[in-house]
Amino acid sequence: MARIVLSSDHAAIDLRQAIAAHVTSLGHTAVDIGPTTTESTHYPLHGQAAARQVASGDCDLGILLCGTGQGIMMAANKVPGIRCGACSDPVSAGLIRAHNDANMLAIGARIVGDVAAMAIVDAFLGTEFEGGRHATRVDMIEPADL
Ligand code: RB5
Repeated sequence: MARIVLSSDHAAIDLRQAIAAHVTSLGHTAVDIGPTTTESTHYPLHGQAAARQVASGDCDLGILLCGTGQGIMMAANKVPGIRCGACSDPVSAGLIRAHNDANMLAIGARIVGDVAAMAIVDAFLGTEFEGGRHATRVDMIEPADL
């Protein structure tokens, strides 16, 4: 079972809390770092706070949400060691684990419905990294010079 950090901006409070409960029901430990109100806030703050918990090893995986899933994914990927993909379907969510060893998943609460979001989470959490040729490629993902 994994220790999973969750965060979002104001656009995804209800869905994030529902996902935290779902993750807990699966036997994982959900570390929900908020926010808890729908007051307008800034997705980079929350995405990077969660990403630091994964990068430091305090959590195994992370799930992020904002309106589209895109902004918070971009912010998380600026934290060294983070591989976060924004997914709107379960196939992609499984493949970012299997092929990219993604350690964070981003979902757009204004893009996907609640049922689809749970299926996306299930695919992400239920898939292992395949390693092999994919490990060679993941190892090549490094900050690039201009
Ligand atoms: C907030 O209105 C919205 O811009 C944010 O949730 C997200 O969609 C950004 O990528």
